Amino acid sequence: MSIHTEIKRITTNTLQEMKRKGEKISMITAYDFSMAGIVDEAGIDVILVGDSASNVMAGHETTLPITLDQMIYHASSVVRAVKRALVVVDLPFGSYQGNSKEALSSAIKIMKESGAHAVKLEGGREVKESIERILSAGVPVMGHLGLTPQSIYKFGTYVVRAKEQMEAERLLADAQILQQAGCFSIVLEKIPATLARKVSSEVHIPVIGIGAGNGVDGQVLVLHDMIGINNEFHPRFLRKYANVHQVILEATQAYISDVKSNDFPNEKEQY
Ligand code: KIV
Repeated sequence: MSIHTEIKRITTNTLQEMKRKGEKISMITAYDFSMAGIVDEAGIDVILVGDSASNVMAGHETTLPITLDQMIYHASSVVRAVKRALVVVDLPFGSYQGNSKEALSSAIKIMKESGAHAVKLEGGREVKESIERILSAGVPVMGHLGLTPQSIYKFGTYVVRAKEQMEAERLLADAQILQQAGCFSIVLEKIPATLARKVSSEVHIPVIGIGAGNGVDGQVLVLHDMIGINNEFHPRFLRKYANVHQVILEATQAYISDVKSNDFPNEKEQY
């Protein structure tokens, strides 16, 4: 007899419901089939196919070089592995800032070719029209305020954003604008915890923080930082849950040594 267990998928409505109930939302990045399968099995609520793939997977210094087709490649690999989580894909730099028509066609291409469930884009009032246009095609949109890495050359630094009152007020107003435009959720990156808490209490959509304290509705981290693959990134907000860099290093060193000494493969490991 086979036991048929149906996995209940996370939707944008689930996230709204979680906020209503005060249940925290867990979100993590993934860019490939293998990792996505593991984090989905672990029970993560949202998988973000972030444009941080540009740094983490491709070794670029910023998120700017990654293309729409490369994001689709990563996203479709992730989607093939996922049974439960909501999969959100970043619209990469240059694929939506031109005008709302371009934003819509980029979002449609991602949804059609990857099978993902929603898109994310950076910015406040300046992307309102694009958000509305994408939503008019039935594509859910997640916003992203605070530190917006696609604008790194405008700011010149990755320091904490919105510490000054004027910038904080603008961020709060932008969060309201994103909500009114129809975003189902907002990511707040690297802003003071008190401001993030205020935003979260003043909007009814879920607010997911990274470096934004614990007064928000959920947390997101970059997987490779969280599991310690990247050993050179130590921001205050990052908690490392493993040292996978060391695990891979030691396993590879042991393998090299076994190959060199002719210990691998042994009698049982050959045909
Ligand atoms: O691309 C990314 O990984 C992100 C997170 C940092 C939120 O946007």
